Parts: sequence; C-alpha cells; structure tokens
Amino acid sequence: MNKKLIPFASLALVAGVVTSCGGTTTSGAKEKPLIFYNRQPTLANNSVDKEVMNWSDLTFYGGFDAVAGGDTQGKMIADYIKEHAAEMDRNGDGTIGYVLAIGQNSHNDSSARTIGIRKALGTGSTAEDKAQSQEGSVTANDGKTYKVKELAAQEMRDSAGPWSQAVAGTAMAGWINQYGDQIDLVVSNNDGMAEGMIAQYPEGLEIPTFGYDANASTLDLILEGGSMKGTITQNHHAQVLTVLQLLRNFFDGETGEGMYTKGFKTADKSGNQILSANVAYTADTKALLAENGIVTIDNAQGVKDDVLDSGIKNKTADTTKHKVLWTVYSSTDNFLNQTYIPTVERYLEYYNYDITWIKGDGTQETSVTSGFTNLNNYEAYVVNMVEPTNGALYQDLLANA
Ligand code: BGC
Repeated sequence: MNKKLIPFASLALVAGVVTSCGGTTTSGAKEKPLIFYNRQPTLANNSVDKEVMNWSDLTFYGGFDAVAGGDTQGKMIADYIKEHAAEMDRNGDGTIGYVLAIGQNSHNDSSARTIGIRKALGTGSTAEDKAQSQEGSVTANDGKTYKVKELAAQEMRDSAGPWSQAVAGTAMAGWINQYGDQIDLVVSNNDGMAEGMIAQYPEGLEIPTFGYDANASTLDLILEGGSMKGTITQNHHAQVLTVLQLLRNFFDGETGEGMYTKGFKTADKSGNQILSANVAYTADTKALLAENGIVTIDNAQGVKDDVLDSGIKNKTADTTKHKVLWTVYSSTDNFLNQTYIPTVERYLEYYNYDITWIKGDGTQETSVTSGFTNLNNYEAYVVNMVEPTNGALYQDLLANA
C-alpha cells in the first residue's frame, strides 16, 4: 500500500466526524489568531493555499523563505565544489558524483531545496523524487571544468514519517555499495538525514556533506572538521519570535498592519523588536518569512552559541498567561524537537503564554487532531500540519468546536 495515501484516508474520517457534528461557526474561531508555522499551507502542487490563508484576518504563516533557502543551499554547495573539486573527485574521472536525500515530496521546504541544489549544479530544475539524468557542470577556481552527476535521489520516509534519519542511513549504505568511489559529495534536505548518512561512511573516509537547519549536533560535526562541511540556518530565533510576536500583537490589541509590523519593523508595546534576522512580510500569502544564512566552519561556533535575540529585552506588561494551543506534526522530527521547540520555550518568559503542546506521529493527521479537546478554551492556535495540504481540515475543526 502506498504509505502516502494513509493520511488522506484517515483525514476523510476526521472530516466526516466534523460534518456530522454539524453546526455553523459559532465559536468565534475566526476572531482568534491561527498561525501556521514550519509547514506552509500548500496545494498538491506545493504552491501556497491562499484559500486557507484567507480564512480569517488573523490567519498568518510564520516561517522562513523556502525558495531563497534552497537557492542559498545550492550556492553554498556549488561554491564548495569550485574551491575543492580536484580533491573531491575521488576516482579522478573528472565528474563530481553526488547522492541526494529528499525530505518530504509534499513539503515545499523540501522541494525548494531539491530544486535549489539541482539548479546550482546544473542537474535539473524540478523536485522529482528520482535521480536526474541531466548532466551538470561546475568550473572550479583552478579553471578546470568538472561534470556533475546526480547518482541517486530518494525521499526518506518510514513509518515514523518523512525526513527520516534512519532511512537516509539505510539508503546511504546501499548507495555506497552501489556507487563506491563515484560518490564525491552528499547532499541532504536536512541535517538529521545528513547525520544518518555520515554514520555509514567507511572509517576514515571523508565525503563532503551538506545539510540544512543548523541543528546543534550538526554544528558540532562541522566544528570537528570531518565530512560535514556546511548547513543552512533558517534563523530559528527570528522564526520562533515571528509566531510569538503575532500572538503578542493580537493580545496587545493590534489590528491590520499592526499585526505584522509591530515587533518586526518597529518596536511593539513592550519595546521589543526582532533583530536576529530580517523577517519580510508577503501580503499575497500572508507570510512572514525569515531570511536564511550559510553556515560553515567559519561561522558555526557563533551559530552554536545560540544567543537570544538582542531585540527582545522586555517582559510584556500584560501579565495574563494567555492560553495557546500549539501543534507539532511529529514528536521525533529533528529540527522541530532539537532546535525550534526548545527555542520557543526560551522566549516564553518574555511573552507570557501558557502553551498546550500536541505532538503527532508524523504520519497521521488524527495523531494530532485526536488530542483536540475544549478547543474554545484557547485564545490562539499555532498549527503544524502533518500534510501541508490539510490546513482547511484544522480550520473546519476550529470553526465547529
Ligand atoms: C526542516 C526539516 C524538518 C521539517 C519539518 C523543515 O523546514 O528543515 O528538518 O524536518 O521542516 O516540517
């Protein structure tokens, strides 16, 4: 059975329950913030689902610029090849062969990275979940032109969901057997999968490897100076603060533009303003997107220091502990559990929220939504769907609560 069908089948059931409960919208859900984060509501073709985003004035997405991130990752890798091609080409055949770990076909972060990498290396321009036959090339700084070949590419999904570190490890073991010294480079849509792959390299063999997320454990690998050569920071402080700030603006009585400018472009009522990274508002998709940054051995220590945003200086004057329901698609996702959620917790003393976390199993939307009780007791909702196409399902549940 195609695993990807499971979530949709179970969703149909959930949707059925909602409809049979019946009733028109009485809960005032549209008068409360509904903030999507990390998984942008999208249509099946990975473009933003504007209907979901226009559900209410208080519906927003707080994330990072996925497309620019993919381009940045691609540039980082191409720049590395330019600098190191001669020493990378293990079998001296003039071709830089690489394997690619894809995170989740149905996630626009993942497809943006796959496309960004392929474009930069000249091996393709789509997010297709299979090795591309198009041959790329990179002219190294020493003037020699190397061919670039994608040997293998695969979505890393198992029963615990997509972005699987374990599956990436198993795939890498198979690729090492199959391609041997044709593999000069390993590229991953995230750090967790990159770490799973590195664990399979034969003792003493270094293969330049690149991930995405700047998780602490990956920064350690970069600093050790082994195979892990680079990653991208999605600027998790600015991203987390974007969500906390949107909620704060609502509780501070901001409306309209105030929702996405206070604390972003100008200080909010408490004198706080996000300074750790630029966050841009896109009106068309109601998205606040943090910029991305390249991390290599040159700046990994600074990123690892993980200091709080210097613009968040004051605890809010509003001492009410506002009740917020916050969902996480998977209790085992590397980036969310290692980097994002601990960062939310670090800022709570400034923002004053009482968060109820619901973490899913990474594969079934019901693993999250079955935890929805007394939805009306919450003053705001922060949502991370299992499938990015399921935003409307959450909106129906909120409207019918
Ligand atoms: C991160 C991945 C993570 C995914 C979860 C992405 O932005 O880079 O590491 O698995 O979000 O939705």
